[in-house]
Amino acid sequence: MKPSESGKPKQSLGRRQFLGFAWVGSLAVLGAQSLVTLTRFLKPVSTGGFGGRVYAGKVDEFAVGSINRILSGRFYLVRSEGGFLALWQRCTHLGCAVPYDESASQFHCPCHGSLFDNMGVVTGGPAPRPMDTFPVVIENGEVWVDTSQPTERSAFDPSQLTPA
Ligand code: FES
Repeated sequence: MKPSESGKPKQSLGRRQFLGFAWVGSLAVLGAQSLVTLTRFLKPVSTGGFGGRVYAGKVDEFAVGSINRILSGRFYLVRSEGGFLALWQRCTHLGCAVPYDESASQFHCPCHGSLFDNMGVVTGGPAPRPMDTFPVVIENGEVWVDTSQPTERSAFDPSQLTPA
């Protein structure tokens, strides 16, 4: 190091030192960006999609006896005489998405063959319990489902229905 005019050693940043700082700084920025992206990815969506409150439609759009798949919320909306039931499409065996077989009037998991009736109750296969449900809320003639709160159950009970 060369002494400066004041006699103290002059602090200068060498090329290697500068490149080292630049490299560490770039890694820090990249790490921060990755952290922000990961946080956004893992955080449940608060409105409009799965993990939050999902708008299903107007009450009148769902006929009594109908089963409609709401893709954005990953659930089926069942409307029976007693009201609405939202069934998470996730199989309670190992988590496959369960399609509804209209011709057989049942849910049929393609992975290992579990069968569920229209209320999501197991009628066959290895699934250990009925399909989980989500809370349904009716507001001003509209059906909303809170997909942040799946509920496990051991059987169907009419009290699980939300009156229209
Ligand atoms: S994941 Fe549905 S039966 Fe296995």
